[in-house]
Amino acid sequence: MLADAPIFSSGAMGDLVLDNRIVMAPLTRMRAANPGLVPTALHAEYYAQRASAGLIVSEGMSISREAVGWADTPGIWSAEQMSGWAKVLDAVHERGGRMVAQLWHTGAISHPDFGARPMSASDVNVGHESVTPFGRKPTVIPRPMSADDIRRTVADYGEAARNAMSVGFDGVQIQANYLYLLAQFLNRTTNLRTDEYGGSLENRARFLFEVVEAVLTQVAPDRVGVRIGPMNEVGAFGAHDETLPMAEYAVRELDGYGLSHLLLMGATTDFTGTPLEGLSADGMFRHFRPIFKGALIANVGMDLERGNRLIAEGAADMIAFGRPFISNPDLVWRLANGAPLAPVDWATVYGSGPEGYTDYPPYRREAVQNLTPFASA
Ligand SMILES: Cc1cc2nc3c(=O)[nH]c(=O)nc-3n(C[C@H](O)[C@H](O)[C@H](O)COP(=O)(O)O)c2cc1C
Repeated sequence: MLADAPIFSSGAMGDLVLDNRIVMAPLTRMRAANPGLVPTALHAEYYAQRASAGLIVSEGMSISREAVGWADTPGIWSAEQMSGWAKVLDAVHERGGRMVAQLWHTGAISHPDFGARPMSASDVNVGHESVTPFGRKPTVIPRPMSADDIRRTVADYGEAARNAMSVGFDGVQIQANYLYLLAQFLNRTTNLRTDEYGGSLENRARFLFEVVEAVLTQVAPDRVGVRIGPMNEVGAFGAHDETLPMAEYAVRELDGYGLSHLLLMGATTDFTGTPLEGLSADGMFRHFRPIFKGALIANVGMDLERGNRLIAEGAADMIAFGRPFISNPDLVWRLANGAPLAPVDWATVYGSGPEGYTDYPPYRREAVQNLTPFASA
């Protein structure tokens, strides 16, 4: 029976007991379209609709005003934002859900249109797009962070983590993936520093560990996770001889802090002929499983069969779904009942308001009654 599959068994993340092993991956949706970047009643409704996930990872939320680099995305530094998130957490908890806050600093992905020249490890234009309040624009050359900038930003992470826990989040996740600030320090292409934050793997990872330590002054390790992995650099610049050693080093050290979880992206490009050849398909999860003892959450292009296989063989503890959760608020139920998944309407993913956000209906339950014990849920 579908509902007996490993993915529906109860999971654990530190001392948190999770109803199932299905994780809602972090999804930026640009619905905080207000001057204070405050999450609204619409956010509460959206996340509550998805509370049957074993764990929700929130959309990225800016740790400070200067961390902002994507229009209409929420923050977690002001009292107003905190009271908005408190209402979201009330709604999610009322439905029995669990939710961690993804802590975000965009660094060089930000833009002068947000109020100041963005900062980063070095003055390297990441060659990306910035979603500014005035539309998508090419990124600019950022300003290299001073020692003071680094100290202040590390402290901002700690404060953001404290804010998140004080409004009821069940934990936090540090975003060290993609091309955002922490990854800008980890990647050798964007980090040309010659001080103790640049050069060797150890030096490039120093900022990340300082951030982790600042967060750990506020939150117990079994409530702290990180999103990191080789895809961070591959997605932006391609795989090279240091891509895997950097990710391995960082994950091994992170494991030493006894963190709760690692959100790991599987391969999204063809690794044939690259130093990452062995990490194709499920190889990514098999490779990192022995390195990280906390909960390993596997992500990218997952389906029921693959998720169950990864859990059954011990290569992952939980399975994160991103895009499917946009259009299927009842994804857990649909997977358990073999119901078809609704497609995403891409025109409204980054829209504003309820359309394409809170108006995806649950599946017509009467159509699949009696398929499994979940049918009457
Ligand atoms: C619309 C959209 C917004 C996203 N926003 C975030 C984000 O805020 N933080 C993050 O770490 N990943 C973000 N991601 C990546 C997803 O968490 C996930 O890794 C990706 O969608 C692949 O998983 P999937 O194949 O299940 O969709 C986003 C992805 C999409 C499609």
